[in-house]
Amino acid sequence: MRIRTAVLISGRGSNLKSLITACSAEVFPAEIVLVISNVPNAPGLNHARAAGIPQQVIAHTEFQRREDFDSALDAVLQEEKIGLICLAGFMRILGDGFVARWQGRLINIHPSLLPSFRGTRVHERAVESGVRISGCTVHYVTPEMDSGPAIVQAAVPVGPDDTTEALAARVLEAEHKIYPQALKMVADRSVRLENGKTVFGAYRCAGEFLINPAEG
Ligand code: GRF
Repeated sequence: MRIRTAVLISGRGSNLKSLITACSAEVFPAEIVLVISNVPNAPGLNHARAAGIPQQVIAHTEFQRREDFDSALDAVLQEEKIGLICLAGFMRILGDGFVARWQGRLINIHPSLLPSFRGTRVHERAVESGVRISGCTVHYVTPEMDSGPAIVQAAVPVGPDDTTEALAARVLEAEHKIYPQALKMVADRSVRLENGKTVFGAYRCAGEFLINPAEG
């Protein structure tokens, strides 16, 4: 049985696209059965449309309180018997109640090597800071933003003349590799969240949960 997975987006949806491609493989433990956007007409919805995946817009602007938006979202996810949620460029903070309910079944991608550069303007801050290595992280979502334990990370070099855009593009390429990899690991239960930590089951080799720039 493939895990019924929902992907939540707000914008471009390039990570959604990489997840759709991965899930279309003959053998993959997750199936994307629903794409939800909190932004009407988000460009990423076109990827769902092209793949024939049902989509819904739940516009946060139609709710006065965060909890009401979260409840509406939760109701749809329950109704569709969703087992796993991937946040992919979803630009809403989910409340503690929602996060607790979906704990261990809610993952996110962030374009830095967490715990460095949480929050926004990530690439700009990375370039400004002069770090030589940045990257991206797929992690379990916990109540504190961008703080949940990592599942897969990719390291990406920062060149001395890199612009924010150049770095963003290089990191995005790595994102498209690690998100499908992490989804597979969570869906086939090779990893799980236990006491706030990621527990690795079958995966013992470092190469399975870290992509190194030297490896291309
Ligand atoms: C990605 O960089 C992701 O890491 C961040 O938001 C961006 C979304 O890009 N959370 P896309 O919509 O998947 O193209």
